[in-house]
Amino acid sequence: MTEHVKIVEVGPRDGLQNEKQFVGTAVKIDLVNRLASAGFANVEAAAFVSPKWVPQMADGTDVMTGITRRPGTIYSVLVPNMRGFEAALAAHADEVVIFGAASEAFSQRNINCSIAESIERFEPVAAAAKQAGLRLRGSISCSLGCPYQGETPVSAVVDVAERFLRLGCDEIDVADTIGVGTAAQVQRVLKAVGQVTDLGTRVSGHFHDTYGQALANILAALECGVRIFHSSVAGLGGCPYAKGATGNVATEDVLYLMNGQGLDTGIELDAVVDIGQWISQEIGRATSSRAGRALALKKQA
Ligand code: HMG
Ligand code: MG
Repeated sequence: MTEHVKIVEVGPRDGLQNEKQFVGTAVKIDLVNRLASAGFANVEAAAFVSPKWVPQMADGTDVMTGITRRPGTIYSVLVPNMRGFEAALAAHADEVVIFGAASEAFSQRNINCSIAESIERFEPVAAAAKQAGLRLRGSISCSLGCPYQGETPVSAVVDVAERFLRLGCDEIDVADTIGVGTAAQVQRVLKAVGQVTDLGTRVSGHFHDTYGQALANILAALECGVRIFHSSVAGLGGCPYAKGATGNVATEDVLYLMNGQGLDTGIELDAVVDIGQWISQEIGRATSSRAGRALALKKQA
């Protein structure tokens, strides 16, 4: 039997959140629907954060209520506090994502509080999510480096992972917010996180591709036993509070890699290439996906 890898498509949230020009709600809805139709079992669709902090995500409720739900697809949303959770619940999110950091400086810049304060803020969110029967995911920013503090100690990542596990997180994202990590470092961090939870079912790799290391890092994480990865169609994205960080690893590139590894994702690469071409045109920029560009050119030939 072919081994399965879960790809979480984060383009509608992580991919679009940093776009300067407001992307219309109809385009966002269309993007989520197209991605679900291509076979993604998990799409990160919106963020219920302060619109003053991230204006692009201000229409989360309209996106979540406007999409056509595909049975079986998990629609995830980011929530920083109870206010965000209430909005997520009202919008029928399937999974809420609390997002902390392994770096104090990044925590302050991104969510305006210390790591310890963020955990206190997440406590009621986690309890309410469990009570409502929603899935809970915890994202650890700066797991492989911080734009303000530099290197992140492995122990700081494990510490936040343990706190998230105590809150009841079903999944933990080891996130390379600024895409600085390299394969050996990924393996060091994952081996340590693997001491406190199961890498095969509970941990995901969330790699940005700023330094071109994301595919190598995914391969390194696969070797450690990780089977969940985040990616963004056309490689869209960047974090507004991580200057210079580019998008997530492109979904098309990840699918091309997984297909080559003989791993099953349940997703049609060809359909994702078309979505990548479409969304790039909609927001007026060239795709960042190498595989996406090559396959699109091949189709035209
Ligand atoms: P704050 O200013 O400390 O909080 O922000 P506040 O409670 O004083 O609220 C400020 C204003 O925001 C108030 O409005 C609140 O009502 C409003 P005002 O009274 O001034 O008109 N507000 C909200 N509005 C809508 N939804 C809410 C909400 N909460 C408060 N949930 C806060 C603290 C956490 C709210 C803020 O810092 C924030 O929203 N930060 C989000 C930053 C963000 O979204 N960053 C990008 C996502 S993380 C990421 O990309 C990393 C990831 O991909 C992994 C990786 O790669 O590392 C996940
Ligand atoms: Mg990210």
